[in-house]
Amino acid sequence: MENKAIDLLVHHIGVLVTMRGKDEPRTGRDMAEVGVVEHGAVAIRDGKIFAVGQEEEVRAQIAGMAVKQELDVQGRLVTPGLIDPHTHLVHGGSREHELSLKLKGVPYLEILAQGGGILSTVRATRTASEEALYEKAKKSLDQMLLYGATTVEVKSGYGLRLEDELKQLRVAKRLDETHPVDVVSTFMGAHAVPEEYKGRSAEYVDLVIHEMLPEVKRQGLAEFCDVFCEHGVFSVEESRRILSAAKANGFGLKIHADEIEPMGGAQLAGELGCISAEHLLAATDEGLEAMRDAGVIAVCLPATSFNLRLTSHARARAMIDMGVPVALSTDYNPGSSPTESLQLVMTLGCLNLGMTPEEVLTAMTINAAHAIGRADTVGSLEVGKQADLVIYDAHNLAYLPYHFGVNHVDTVVKNGKVVVA
Ligand code: NIG
Ligand code: FE
Repeated sequence: MENKAIDLLVHHIGVLVTMRGKDEPRTGRDMAEVGVVEHGAVAIRDGKIFAVGQEEEVRAQIAGMAVKQELDVQGRLVTPGLIDPHTHLVHGGSREHELSLKLKGVPYLEILAQGGGILSTVRATRTASEEALYEKAKKSLDQMLLYGATTVEVKSGYGLRLEDELKQLRVAKRLDETHPVDVVSTFMGAHAVPEEYKGRSAEYVDLVIHEMLPEVKRQGLAEFCDVFCEHGVFSVEESRRILSAAKANGFGLKIHADEIEPMGGAQLAGELGCISAEHLLAATDEGLEAMRDAGVIAVCLPATSFNLRLTSHARARAMIDMGVPVALSTDYNPGSSPTESLQLVMTLGCLNLGMTPEEVLTAMTINAAHAIGRADTVGSLEVGKQADLVIYDAHNLAYLPYHFGVNHVDTVVKNGKVVVA
């Protein structure tokens, strides 16, 4: 019977990491509970998981049903599709010229203050055509998929004027519609104060609040709003104004908080009930406690602290131990983190943040799904969820962060279809 068929049976899985279990974001010891099944299988129907578990059990559940396609993964490791909950995917140009400045010791915020950094990408993004932005972003999204990402959050923030912010967000929307990877969009008009508003940040904040936010909402181009709350960028008070207006417009809230200076961004995230706060290298204990009490997810970005040559990193261990749920992301962008590889982030999450391989996987699957409001459909392998799976040329989880700098992905299944083989 055609309507009772299994479309794809992934079987002979040596180690199947399901992440099944709790509904809420994970922290503490729960971050190490990854739901491993040995000798596993996943049966997929209509793009969704129909049965998952030990191969014998799955075969018993689908007994009598036709199986249209089988994928024998020969004892390999399988995880849920990886989720990258923080990227600046859509932008013009690149910034390799900043490498020599960095090597001379010029700090990131100094490059920005001199009109470089984010502002040089703003110039390149404003002059780029929508088509060129799409083609460039698509190439990077292809890379992300090849490295195992099946859902990616994408921020605007290199337009810094209405028409160019909308241009970036339209590109993100088109990628969501045309690319196998699911794209979740965030409006980040408050990523920097544009050159034409230099010294007039209050006026720019007004523009973001009164013109950009309502128009982005009206066109339905973003689900979340993010602000770069940092010394010399947007103050805590300006961030509060923007995020409060975003909340009133129905956006979910995110904040780049306490990346370089302890500004109180983490406390603000708690106060406003942000879904996530990002970076957090300089977050104080009080800030982290405010996040924990409000259930804010910490999105840590170890590729950024590595690439900025910082000697300290986000205190992920302390966050987990005190009950803050942690997610991990590439922060892919042309300045502070030019990498699409979540597998590199796995290694840095272990070596620089002190997380275990299990915690790292939790942080880039189910907790990352929570950080972008998608935990009901992706982030774990459970009956009824989207069939997003990664099959690695590896036989256990620790092998991924251990053997670094190469791509371990063998096959990616997205919505039940093999999209990387
Ligand atoms: O998350 N910190 C601010 N924004 C980005 C960097 C953007 C850029 O340098 O172009 C980040 O690191
Ligand atoms: Fe960022």
